[in-house]
Amino acid sequence: MPVTDRPRPEPHQVQVGGPRPYTVHVGAGLLSVSDVARAGIPQTRRALIYPADLPGEWLHAAQSCLQPELSIMVPPRDECKTLEVFGRVLSQLASAALPRDSAVVGLGGGAVTDLAGFVAASYLRGVAYYSLPTTLLGMVDAAVGGKTGLNLPEGKNLVGAFYPPSAVWADTSTLATLPPATFREGAAEAYKHGLIADPTLLPQILDPNFGALSPSLAATIAQAIQVKADIVSRDLTEQGERAYLNFGHTLAHALEGYTHQALPHGDAVGYGMHYAALLSRAMNKGKDQAEGSDLTPHTAAFLRYQNPQPLPPALLQPGAFEALWPYMNRDKKADSQGVRFVLLRGLAQPYLARVSEDVLRSELAVWQNDVHSVKGC
Ligand SMILES: NC(=O)c1ccc[n+]([C@@H]2O[C@H](COP(=O)([O-])OP(=O)(O)OC[C@H]3O[C@@H](n4cnc5c(N)ncnc54)[C@H](O)[C@@H]3O)[C@@H](O)[C@H]2O)c1
Repeated sequence: MPVTDRPRPEPHQVQVGGPRPYTVHVGAGLLSVSDVARAGIPQTRRALIYPADLPGEWLHAAQSCLQPELSIMVPPRDECKTLEVFGRVLSQLASAALPRDSAVVGLGGGAVTDLAGFVAASYLRGVAYYSLPTTLLGMVDAAVGGKTGLNLPEGKNLVGAFYPPSAVWADTSTLATLPPATFREGAAEAYKHGLIADPTLLPQILDPNFGALSPSLAATIAQAIQVKADIVSRDLTEQGERAYLNFGHTLAHALEGYTHQALPHGDAVGYGMHYAALLSRAMNKGKDQAEGSDLTPHTAAFLRYQNPQPLPPALLQPGAFEALWPYMNRDKKADSQGVRFVLLRGLAQPYLARVSEDVLRSELAVWQNDVHSVKGC
């Protein structure tokens, strides 16, 4: 029996609501059994956008089930999220005279799906967009919620549009070729979803069997997607609770800025979640909090699992606060009165708060200590 005809479990489906509802399909083998074609990309002309380093098997699987008229290769990682690549892709669509009822399909990690979504939002003022994420981060985070866009030399994600896809297919088999460190980057965002909304995810992610070959992988991914789907369904454009998805991201963005993006985003989120948990514990102190309001054991356990790239030594020494503070202050959650942090009163109890400079400084020292002992550096 050919591999493509073998019986396999029905894919999980997560519904995303809001002004333009869509379905996220999650399961092993979605690309190889034509689900994508069957489940509804209309029989229009299609342009497939994929990164140069995507393993050939996933590209060929997508090409055979989608039969795209154009397959457009772009540079890998954030090298594709530039105005130059964006312009080149748009020109290719225009040269082929793709009409208004065409579909743009993004196949790859979050970088390519961000670019492809913005191309779809812009070409002829908007054509249909479909997302086929192939990284864990792409599945649990980037492909859901409608944020698309590019970087500028002045900073990351400074240009873009809210442009939800018409559907998402997350083929979990594609994760088999992902480097383990990249898989664990995506696990950071899934763990964050567990902390802010669904604590039953936490032991699943720390389970030693959680990985590309785990039989429950698709179920865990679908559960993590559900958290983001619920939030963005209620708040697509980040007027309120969508900000909770930034738990751990204020320090994470500062670490990425300080290292000029050399520290991968998921690793920065692992470090940042532990700092946010320390701040939460400090703010919860003396407030008659129920047992369980100290979440630092959870974030420390995640750091041990993730084993993120080491930090520049200067960040574990005195003076780190002064080095990081300007980056934290520039964070998206900063307004004219200063930066606000996403904190937790307990598991699944997020809120936004300003934190005094004294607390930020003293908890950064605790964080340095903890990172030191986890990383043994
Ligand atoms: N739109 C959103 O809401 C949102 C949310 C989070 C992150 N993002 C964006 O996502 C990007 C990061 O995404 P990412 O972590 O997926 O990284 P990525 O897109 O840079 O992919 C990482 C690397 O893995 C390669 N790759 C992809 N799939 C693979 C596979 N199955 N096997 C082997 N290699 C594979 C990619 O080509 C790339 O080289 C950033 O640009 C970030 O800004 C967007």
